[in-house]
Amino acid sequence: MKRQKLIMTLATMLVGMSAWAQSHEFLVQTNKLGAPIPSTMYGIFFEDINYAADGGLYGELVKNRSFEFPDHYMGWSVFGNVQLKNDGPFDKNPHYIRVGYSGHSDKFSGVENEGYFGIGYEQGAEYRFSVWARCPQGGRATIRVMLCDPSTMEERQQFTEQQVNIEGSEWKKYTAVLKAAKTVNKGTLRVMLRGNGQADLEHISLFPVKTWKGHENGMRQDLAQALADLHPGVFRFPGGCIVEGTDLATRYQWKNSVGPVENRPLNENRWHYTFDYRFFPDYYQSYGLGFYEYFLLSEEIGSEPLPVISVGLACQFQNHSESAHVPVDELQPYIDDVLDLIEFANGDPATNSWAKLRADMGHPAPFNLKYVAIGNEQWGQTYIDHLQPFVDQVRKKYPNIKIIGTSGPNSEGEDFDFLWPEMRKIGADLVDEHFYRPETWFLQSGNRYDNYPRKGPKVFAGEYACHGRGKKWNHFNAALLEAAFLTGVERNADVVEMATYAPLFAHVEGWQWRPDMIWYDNLRSFRSCSYQVQQMYSLTKGTNVVPLTMAGKPVAGNSDQDGLFASANFDKAANCYYIKIVNTGDKAQDVTLNLKGMKGEHSGSVTTFHADNLDGENTLDQPHRYEPVVKPISITAPTHNVSIPAKTFAVYKIEK
Ligand code: AHR
Repeated sequence: MKRQKLIMTLATMLVGMSAWAQSHEFLVQTNKLGAPIPSTMYGIFFEDINYAADGGLYGELVKNRSFEFPDHYMGWSVFGNVQLKNDGPFDKNPHYIRVGYSGHSDKFSGVENEGYFGIGYEQGAEYRFSVWARCPQGGRATIRVMLCDPSTMEERQQFTEQQVNIEGSEWKKYTAVLKAAKTVNKGTLRVMLRGNGQADLEHISLFPVKTWKGHENGMRQDLAQALADLHPGVFRFPGGCIVEGTDLATRYQWKNSVGPVENRPLNENRWHYTFDYRFFPDYYQSYGLGFYEYFLLSEEIGSEPLPVISVGLACQFQNHSESAHVPVDELQPYIDDVLDLIEFANGDPATNSWAKLRADMGHPAPFNLKYVAIGNEQWGQTYIDHLQPFVDQVRKKYPNIKIIGTSGPNSEGEDFDFLWPEMRKIGADLVDEHFYRPETWFLQSGNRYDNYPRKGPKVFAGEYACHGRGKKWNHFNAALLEAAFLTGVERNADVVEMATYAPLFAHVEGWQWRPDMIWYDNLRSFRSCSYQVQQMYSLTKGTNVVPLTMAGKPVAGNSDQDGLFASANFDKAANCYYIKIVNTGDKAQDVTLNLKGMKGEHSGSVTTFHADNLDGENTLDQPHRYEPVVKPISITAPTHNVSIPAKTFAVYKIEK
């Protein structure tokens, strides 16, 4: 009897399995609007790692423009009669150079800057040179400003030149616009004294005239455009470990990143000597891309700013000395940094000096900051002890600001299990989770948020990326698995409020960490496969979750789901449904969409992202090799059959 029952059960299971093998029926309850999807859901996270700011998004082409690197001539070649002085007009950047007659009519005095891995010039493009200068003896001096190609076989290395006259003994800013006569990826900027005068030169700067929105202290156009094209809902900044610093003195201090750029003091970049196998001793932070530029860019690309501020703990991974932790009763200056930042962003210029600085910098209207994250990857009781006074004071003064705490550097484990309940107790509004994990983790984590508590802090997946196939690189399969994982994020929009892939940027010659979302050299850039996935999500974010199940369960790559992941939403503004299906398996899968609540023909489209090669990636030479393809389609409701090719991410748009 028992045996007969077992056979019957097995037979039933087999029938069921073969039914699934033939066609997977997705029940999409279009007549049931689920949780609202926060507009912040898909965002960006910027950290100055991989030469993301200086040498990357920040448009400045001159390295060590204020001669403040500890090696004051780092990045410069110096020739002739040049002296380093330190009583310049900017108290936080006091160094400058004095260039004088070399004493020989055929030997010139001057300096040449190598830029970041060279300076990229584009033929016909204009470049704005500027310098603070004076003639220390009064009178007049002339400098020659030259765009050079040191590797040329032509007679002259300089291909564009202009002279700038400096007059009088007062410090003044001088500018010149130069049009590049040729395209060079690794050029230099040469500044040479003409004749036998004497000139003091400080803050020698060169920007493309065409920056993002034409701002003078602006961002590199192609990179900022790549951010804008993502339509990021939220913009986390400035890190990352950079927030913590290798020690407290080198933590990111936002107050040093605002006001006139000439007087923003240099900070070390903690990524310059973090890895002995990717060593960049010339990596510093000029703070030229500071908090004002960040808030402005957030506004211009339509993102909610989400600053991260030090909780008074230097990097817990690296620094184990006593001095790495501020005693809790000495935290007030750190707490003030948060309170003052909120004023800088939102305050009234008439009553608050930080708000006045914002207005003086060109933005009298508030930036409407809504979030602050306190601490990056911190852990242990010490984090809780440090966080508490921040929470108390921010809550009291700014009850509407949402506070983000962290669950530590890992996606699970002891620290994670300790911190989440603590975050509930302390009343964090969101908890930042980080996961740089292998392919297996992404394949198995489709259900991660299905059973999270529905009450209490929301999740901010603040740093994540699939690191797979034995190498940390931007291959297509990693992007596909990120797409699969994100179906679970979207389905749980009542729990997850935002998610930001990391890191964002990398210079091909200057990276410390990969994979990254957007890569570039001095003139070109490309958007990785992961970028394509982020953009597909962001452009089809929707406003409400729509329930989508297969045999009564979410489609999350479970063992009986043939590698399929799926989610659905409705977009009120566009009046359409988006159904996302990721086939991570090796075979095409047939899916019947059962669109409950819909009838008749509906126009729409299907956007598919697929690569012939799982290791495939976009490159500087082939930036568009792997991109989604959009095709118009017509959908028949209530049931419509589709076939999802192996290793493919497909988004169906169905007009209501
Ligand atoms: O994204 C690179 C680093 O990874 C971040 O700085 C840090 O938060 C994490 O460990």
